[in-house]
Amino acid sequence: MLLPVPVEIVWETKTHIKEEKVASIAQKLATLGTGMTLDELCELVRFVERLRSSNECASLYLRKEETKAPRTIEVDSESKRIFIHLKTHNIPEVGRGHHKRVTHSILYDPDSPKLVATAVVKESEATRSEIDLYEKFKRCKGILKPLYVSKHPKTSGKMLREIITPLYNKGSLSTFVRNNQKAIPIAAKYKIAKDIFVGSCELNSMGYVNRDNNKGNFFIHEENNTYTTVIGDLGGYTHKLKEALEQKPLGPSLRSSAPDLQRAYYENRLTEQDLLSQHVYSLGRSLYFLLHEDEVPWITAFDDNYPLLAKLYKDKTNPAIAQELDRYTEEVHAHTKPRIQELSVKIQQQTIEPQERFEYYVLHMLSADPELRKTNAYWLKVFETFCTLQQE
Ligand SMILES: Nc1ncnc2c1ncn2[C@@H]1O[C@H](COP(=O)(O)OP(=O)(O)O)[C@@H](O)[C@H]1O
Ligand SMILES: [Mg+2]
Repeated sequence: MLLPVPVEIVWETKTHIKEEKVASIAQKLATLGTGMTLDELCELVRFVERLRSSNECASLYLRKEETKAPRTIEVDSESKRIFIHLKTHNIPEVGRGHHKRVTHSILYDPDSPKLVATAVVKESEATRSEIDLYEKFKRCKGILKPLYVSKHPKTSGKMLREIITPLYNKGSLSTFVRNNQKAIPIAAKYKIAKDIFVGSCELNSMGYVNRDNNKGNFFIHEENNTYTTVIGDLGGYTHKLKEALEQKPLGPSLRSSAPDLQRAYYENRLTEQDLLSQHVYSLGRSLYFLLHEDEVPWITAFDDNYPLLAKLYKDKTNPAIAQELDRYTEEVHAHTKPRIQELSVKIQQQTIEPQERFEYYVLHMLSADPELRKTNAYWLKVFETFCTLQQE
């Protein structure tokens, strides 16, 4: 709920803390790269410290236009956290998707302030269900967790939702690859893959699947050469079999993942559970991108053939569709099988390099045969084993 801005907080910027202390906190904030001058940061610190020392205990959204503070400030009454929204004032956005606009904020702490990511999205049924999912998955490993979720009207009156999450400093898998061409260590790729399967297995264990496994939805953090990855953007999660099966397109990465799964399910070769756990094709596609820093070349043609998918779930007994699927299966196998064969020889001869072994796994995930693709749990074990071997 929005409360009126408490008057004593608004205009008064005098504070009980010493100017040296103000300057030292401002210095710490400056090292984060906030796009603010040192003078602005000092002013901000005085304002925030005054806010902290007031007895105000409600959640607040203090627009800078009303308070005249250098930036808009938000307080979560429950956790007592204070967020300073940097928006896009002299600092680039964190990212942007089809629904959300994500910018930087500071999670204020006089000793160790941090940058965090604030996603702003229009209030809607879909947004509400995404927010419910954050709550549901808040104890799951490998899945993005919010620090604070709030709601407030725009100046135009439209209602907005805000989801504040830890900032993953390498951005999405897509941004990470774009910014680090040819410089990503293979060990990092294995760890990223492992973390993605940790998240996918958690989803499966709760009867959910991510319909939007595209490379913009995995967020990567690196500190002292240790990589951590989570599945973000919970907007694509579903526990509805029909939705999982129909795979209504949420992004291009999904389009080519569904038809063979659907077919196997309709032909009773797959159970519902299989359907969720074998949802690895689109992960394979994102991991192919991580490995080769490029899209799977043979997929574009099939994506262009997307209307096939629409036909499939409307008319699954149509023999023309089965024929088209067979053609697709052959095409995929023509691309993957010879290379898989070549790489299996290297495995037998124990001459395979880690990079090639990664490729061998990814080609399986991209197979048009759901059985060959294996399950999330299978791949989690594979990548876990490799990551453990590397640490020894
Ligand atoms: N916590 C975060 N850390 C780093 N980057 C993020 C974070 N949250 C979002 N992003 C960036 O913002 C983009 C859009 O966010 P996302 O949640 O995928 O929105 P949408 O639902 O609109 O697709 C992502 O692709 C990513 O680049
Ligand atoms: Mg997204």
